[in-house]
Amino acid sequence: MPELTLPTAADTNALGQRLGQHVRAGDLVVLTGDLGAGKTTLVQGLAAGLGAPGPVVSPTFVIARVYRGGRLPLVHVDAYRLGSSVEVDDLDLDADLADSVTVVEWGAGLVESLSEERLQLALTRGLDEDDETRHAVVSWSGDRWAEIADALSE
Ligand SMILES: Nc1ncnc2c1ncn2[C@@H]1O[C@H](COP(=O)(O)OP(=O)(O)O)[C@@H](O)[C@H]1O
Ligand SMILES: [Mg+2]
Repeated sequence: MPELTLPTAADTNALGQRLGQHVRAGDLVVLTGDLGAGKTTLVQGLAAGLGAPGPVVSPTFVIARVYRGGRLPLVHVDAYRLGSSVEVDDLDLDADLADSVTVVEWGAGLVESLSEERLQLALTRGLDEDDETRHAVVSWSGDRWAEIADALSE
């Protein structure tokens, strides 16, 4: 499984931007990583890659936000406060997931039922507080993501 090194927040943003250039309607991206790992930073890049005017903010207290105005609508979900399987339909989003890109922070184990095909990015940071470097382990289910995973590491 590819692992990417992200020395600065700008690198994590740039990874999100590359992803934003490749995603298509109906895509599901699941982000894992502790608080501060860079999940929202990556989503900010994803929105920029789609051409959606920001700013993307952490959706923690609202669970989900929809960003429009880019190539595709971006549905940004923070599943941190959701205990069990997410019924994204229950969030009453004003967006159709089939027409959107959905990215879920803290979504592992919760949103797999939404799509058989998905990209997973696991963000981690090292123990050294002075080192800002993050690492992203890229995994996926579904053939089409293999190509995108290659493009992401370019
Ligand atoms: N290499 C890096 N990648 C991502 N964020 C970084 C990096 N280095 C420093 N940061 C900072 O760490 C914080 C990450 O916060 P955020 O993206 O909200 O994380 P999360 O959503 O995972 O809790 C931001 O303040 C960001 O500027
Ligand atoms: Mg976040």
